[in-house]
Amino acid sequence: MTKQDISLYVNGRRYDIRVEPRKTLADALRDDCNLTGTHLGCEHGVCGACTIIVDGETVRSCLMFAVQADGRTLRTVEGLAKGNELHPLQSAFIEHHALQCGYCTPGFLMLATGVLERDPDIADDELRDILSSNLCRCTGYENIVKAVRAAAEQMKAAR
Ligand code: FES
Ligand code: FES
Repeated sequence: MTKQDISLYVNGRRYDIRVEPRKTLADALRDDCNLTGTHLGCEHGVCGACTIIVDGETVRSCLMFAVQADGRTLRTVEGLAKGNELHPLQSAFIEHHALQCGYCTPGFLMLATGVLERDPDIADDELRDILSSNLCRCTGYENIVKAVRAAAEQMKAAR
C-alpha cells in the first residue's frame, strides 16, 4: 500500500513520518514517533488505554488513522511532566496508589487531564461516569477517583 507523508505535532515537537493510510494513530505514535507511553489494550475502542488528546479533545488513538491526525496538535502522556516535575495527576496517582501494573495508567492520566482542563469543578457523579469509560483490571476505581479529585484541588490552587 502506498505510504503517505504526514506531520504530527506531539507535545510541542513536530514528527514528519511516512505511514500507510490504514495505520492507526496509536501505532504511528508508538512505532514511528517512538512514543510508547501510549498503550494498546483492546485495539477497538473499548479499554481506553490508548487515550490521548487531539486538538484539545480526548481521543482513543486506536480508533483514529494516523493520516487523520496530519497537521494536528497531539498530547500524550510523555508531555505531562515538565522536566523532572511531575504533573499533579501523576503525583496524585502515586500518592493515592491509583495504579498497580500501570498498563491502563497513561490512558487514565490523559482522560483525566482532558476532563480537569475542561471542568476542574466537575461533579463526583460525572467524574465517576467519565472515568468508568476506561478499564482498569487491577486497582478498582476508588483510588483512581481519589487521585483525580486530589489533583483537581491542586490544579485549582495553582491557578
Ligand atoms: S486500545 Fe484503544 S480503546 Fe483499547
Ligand atoms: S493498574 Fe493494571 S490495569 Fe490498571
